[in-house]
Parts: sequence; structure tokens; C-alpha cells
Amino acid sequence: MIVPPPAVQALAEHAPAYVYDLADLHTHARSVRQAVHGAELYYAVKANPDPEILRVLAPHLDGFEVSSAGELAHVRATVPGARIALGGPGKTAGELTAPVDRLHVESPGELRRLLATGITADILLRLNLDIPIGGAALTMGGGATPFGMDPAGAQECADLLKPQHRVRLRGIHAHLASGLDAADLAGLARAVLDHAGDHDEVNLGGGMNVSYTDPGARFDWTSYGTALRALGRPGRTLRIEPGRALTAYCGWYLTRVIDLKRVHGALFAVVTGGTHHLRTPVAKSHDQPFAVLPTGHGPAITDEPVTIVGQLCTPKDVFARQIPINHLQTGDTIAFALAGAYAWNISHHDFLMHPKPTFHYV
Ligand SMILES: Cc1ncc(COP(=O)(O)O)c(C=O)c1O
Repeated sequence: MIVPPPAVQALAEHAPAYVYDLADLHTHARSVRQAVHGAELYYAVKANPDPEILRVLAPHLDGFEVSSAGELAHVRATVPGARIALGGPGKTAGELTAPVDRLHVESPGELRRLLATGITADILLRLNLDIPIGGAALTMGGGATPFGMDPAGAQECADLLKPQHRVRLRGIHAHLASGLDAADLAGLARAVLDHAGDHDEVNLGGGMNVSYTDPGARFDWTSYGTALRALGRPGRTLRIEPGRALTAYCGWYLTRVIDLKRVHGALFAVVTGGTHHLRTPVAKSHDQPFAVLPTGHGPAITDEPVTIVGQLCTPKDVFARQIPINHLQTGDTIAFALAGAYAWNISHHDFLMHPKPTFHYV
């Protein structure tokens, strides 16, 4: 059972609320930075763009990976002077011509549009390599997906780049999967580097696993960092851009049990808030890990499996199904863990017009 730190527990009365444990984030980011020394460390802002989070991460990073003009403007305003790489499929004209340190080109069509603008740019070609990917939660490569380009597309880009000098090819980018453990991700890095030819810069993407069934477990950054150093060679920059595994752990979403009800034999705890605040369990079809804080006073249940649901009028508004709980009362606080990545920022906040959660930083 995961237990929120005392500083998070102390904010229970504010539920529904997000609490970001910035002290924990700082410690975690520092240890990741140390473990992968020798590689450049970027943060994939899409995981959580909260300004306080970006500011805590910044001193531990070499830069930020953004995927839209919105994220770009946000990072520029929040962390002035930071190095920025811009990626993502379907770039608008404004995104293609934005002044960034690296532009990750997704297709020959995108490169043609970039060349037609006449601007100078430093680019990486995003490759979708035909590499078998096992054990991933999501795959963005290794087959027919809209992400990056296959070897034929890369050859087309190389031909387009040859007769000109304004758009400079710096290397390749390959974010092929997410949810991989250190051994699998190191194996994928090895396979990508086998395809890297003589490119001096290789961005290996993110995709480090976060376990929602074992929230105390951590991606093995030390062995991954060691593997990256073994794969490096003088003059080549290896870069990674994790999102989830940097920020998931620092976030807590606190809710309050407002009704305990039995329907056709099943027990439900209805909490304030819902998956319009924390969409992660719906997006990933998992049970969001949680702790019960005994702030209640009302009717109680003991030693029963409980399904935790939110206030939305949809059967999809479920945080966790049939979880055995020793003691639960109305008024108790449910503190959902691992709510610091792909959580608030991917949720459908306005559905049903319930109040937004408050945000706290400890
Ligand atoms: C291009 C790119 N880089 C990095 C990431 C971050 O991945 P993760 O949060 O799994 O580390 C993503 C996530 O989708 C991505 O699309």
C-alpha cells in the first residue's frame, strides 16, 4: 500500500485537489540526472507542463521537448533561455518555422514545406524503424503508424537535403514505444543505434516504464544509464526525452468519499471529482493506485472489495475496480498516487461543469 507523505496528507481537507510534491520531484530528477550522465536529458513537456514542475526540473535538464506552438510558448515563458526541441506529427507553418534548437521532421512532406520557407533550421529525422518491440504499453514505431518515417521516407529526405545548406541534418530521432523496462529500452537503443549510420546526434526518445500495479517500483535508471554509456562513441551525442517516468511520482490527486452504495451486490465509493480531473485510469485501462486517509465520520464498510467512481454520469468514470479495502467511511480521503504525468493535462475538465480541483505545491 502506497502512503502519501505527511505534507500531502495535511492537504486532505482541500479535496478535490492536486498536490505536487516538488521536494520529491527535485530529488528524483537529480538522481535520474546522475544515473544517465553522459547522455543529454530532455523532458517531454506533454507529460505535465505545470510551470512549477518545469521550474524544478530545469536545473537537472539539458532541454525540453515540446510538441506544439502552445507548449513552445509556454516553455519559453516559464524557463527563459532553455534549449528546446520541437517534434510531433502535423506541424503547422508556424511550428515549422519556429526558432528552436532542434526540429524533429516527421515526413518528406514536412521537409518539403520546411525547405520551401527558405529558413535555416537544425533538424533530426524522426525514424519509424522496422524493429521488433516487445513489452511496450504503447508503440509509435516498428510498423505502420503515423509517427516518423520509414527507411524509404528517410532516403527521400536525404535526397531533398543534398542540394542545399540552409536546413542542416544533425541526426536522427526515434521514440518508438512507451512503458518499457530498462533492459528492453536499452535493447531498443542498441537496435536504433545499429540504424544510426554515422550520424553524430541520436535522440532515443522517452518511454521509461512507470508501474501502476507496483507504485513503489522505479525504472532502473542506473542500468539504463550504464547501457547508454556503453553504446556511446566519441563525438556522438545521445539524447533521451522521458516524460512519464520523471513526473508521475510527484503528483497526488485527493478526493473525498461522498457516498458509499451497494448496487446489485457490488459496493461503490463515489468521490468528489472524477476522471475529468484524472483521466489516466481510463486512458490506460488500469486501476489507479491509491491510499485511504481516515478523515471520515459516516457509515463504514470493512474488509470488502470496493469500486471507486467519480461524479460523472458515465459508467466509464471509474478510478479502480473491486479493490479490497480494510475500512472505508464516507468523508474519508482517497489519495490517488502516480498522478503527476498524463493526468490533469490530458483530462476532459469541462464535462458536466463540476468545480475544478485546487492545486498545491509542497
Ligand atoms: C516524441 C516523444 N518523445 C517523448 C515522449 C515521452 O514518452 P514517455 O512519457 O513515455 O517517457 C513521447 C510520448 O508520447 C513522445 O511522443
